[in-house]
Amino acid sequence: MENRRILTTGLREEDRELEPKLRPATLESYIGQESVKENMRVFIQAAKQRKEALDHVLLYGPPGLGKTTLSNIIANEMDVNIKTTSGPAIERPGDMAAVLNSLNEGDILFIDEIHRLNRMIEEILYPAMEDFVIDIMIGKGPGARSVRLDLPRFTLIGATTRIGLLTAPLRDRFGVVRLEPYSVENLKIILKRSAAVLQVEMEEGGAEEIARRSRGTPRLANRMLKRVRDFAQVRYDGVITEEVARFALDLLDIDKVG
Ligand code: ADE
Repeated sequence: MENRRILTTGLREEDRELEPKLRPATLESYIGQESVKENMRVFIQAAKQRKEALDHVLLYGPPGLGKTTLSNIIANEMDVNIKTTSGPAIERPGDMAAVLNSLNEGDILFIDEIHRLNRMIEEILYPAMEDFVIDIMIGKGPGARSVRLDLPRFTLIGATTRIGLLTAPLRDRFGVVRLEPYSVENLKIILKRSAAVLQVEMEEGGAEEIARRSRGTPRLANRMLKRVRDFAQVRYDGVITEEVARFALDLLDIDKVG
């Protein structure tokens, strides 16, 4: 059981405290995803030079690879505000209209799990993304009329683990960016950075042992680091060695392959 829970790649309560602390703030400090970073650097620089909002971006890939992290980095690099919501949180067209209406020029709206938006709400997004307007209905019945509201030029960043569930008209309004699982080498770099943030000493062998069991996923690597740190502190002298990492992860029944 424990094994299954620690290996869940979705965001868990235990990650909520840790992830914001470990999250890099700039493209420079974001490890891996080299072609994604290179493309984003060009998009960002071009938009800044033209003094325009960035084009809408859809980030997709398995959970735990850094979609939220990357969105926050993009906002930081563009020097704009980011508003974060999720597909399931927006239940009614009015919720979507309110969120859109609260944006300022150039802001980023981040919608996590965007594949879970319902169709009615998606349809509000089309003109919002394309022409920066929303049509809202005032009143009901025969007296109802539609009013068009102008929106500031904003950037929508959508994140999804399930691109196949997105409707074609929504998907086609984005530039699509796919995140890939991380190499063991890059996971080691992330783990070393995390260990430094957590102020725990870790040997090369310790980093290797955790990285190899992390299934290409920084979220799992960081979660395992926290568990191993506890073992190192209680059973050893606080240092994460290969031995303590192996002992702790074996005990938690976490093996090296998916
Ligand atoms: N933490 C999680 N993902 C990361 C990444 N790609 N680079 C640096 N730290 C991270």
